[in-house]
Amino acid sequence: MRSGLATTALAWVLALSACAGHQQSSIDPAGRQADEIAGLWWFFFWTTGIIFGVVMVFTLLALTRRHRGIEQEPLESTHRPSEETESKLTRVVTGATILTVLILLVMLVASVSTGKSVSALSHEKNAMTIEVTGNQWWWNFRYVNDDPRRELVTANEIHIPVGRPIMIRGMSQDVIHSFWVPNLNGKRDLIPSRTTIEWIKADHPGRFRGECAEFCGMQHAHMAFWVIAEPEDQFDAWMQRELQPAAEPTDPVAKHGQQVFLDHACVFCHSVRGTAAAGHTAPDLTHFGSRLTIAAGTLPNSMGHLGGWIADPQTVKPGNHMATIPVPAGDVQPLLNYLEGLK
Ligand code: CUA
Repeated sequence: MRSGLATTALAWVLALSACAGHQQSSIDPAGRQADEIAGLWWFFFWTTGIIFGVVMVFTLLALTRRHRGIEQEPLESTHRPSEETESKLTRVVTGATILTVLILLVMLVASVSTGKSVSALSHEKNAMTIEVTGNQWWWNFRYVNDDPRRELVTANEIHIPVGRPIMIRGMSQDVIHSFWVPNLNGKRDLIPSRTTIEWIKADHPGRFRGECAEFCGMQHAHMAFWVIAEPEDQFDAWMQRELQPAAEPTDPVAKHGQQVFLDHACVFCHSVRGTAAAGHTAPDLTHFGSRLTIAAGTLPNSMGHLGGWIADPQTVKPGNHMATIPVPAGDVQPLLNYLEGLK
């Protein structure tokens, strides 16, 4: 029964790790920091795994060993172990205790030195700073630049150039959240009225999923984001596009959609640069159509999902701060066309 359960659990773990496609895995590192952490993880895994195996072998030996007729009587009464056995047992127990302390000490040293080397990776040239602000339940990202014209605000998805160290400056608007991209580094809490720092650097291109790693309320589990690492030239091209204000719709349906958007309460919370929408309490939508997901990684970014999300955000993500705005049926499709057209 037990082994059946263990096998089922293992099968689940393997199946789930296969579905994830290693886009969110701390043992598939894509950067030096995550590499160090994965090394430590494997060291702990093998050490504790071997210890577990040895303990199980001795337990089985003890359970299956032929009893010597003493099982019915308390040890003290008649069958006291001989002096020789007693001193042998004392030696074994002392040896095992010393070994345990040594192993724990080695694990402690390994853990502390990994922590040190992860934080030592930070002081590199050519670094870029991205400010992240945790909100219930989405992420605001700001690419910091000395030139205000090159400052960029976006939400729930960032692009980073491969090989460039990125300083993530973390803050929170409400409660404690935790920024975590397992393929790139460990967790870093985002704390209200405080700034925390974490460094990430991708070794190779890829899409990496990040997750809030600190319980922050009802929709904590629906607070994900994407980090897209790409070669420097592709990143620059992306940056150029993102810095542009939103494209004016040319198609008459999308044009009508823009009017629907601007006429409704959406504009009090959301921003679309280049229009009158300048709210700052919800994700910036200037290039919304180019993002992979909506509602902070909750749904794929498609017309169908967006329609469902706008019509009834409280069913998709109960408790979230998106208002349910009654949009007349005939205006829904134009609105979707407009928003998805914001590439
Ligand atoms: Cu934010 Cu959990």
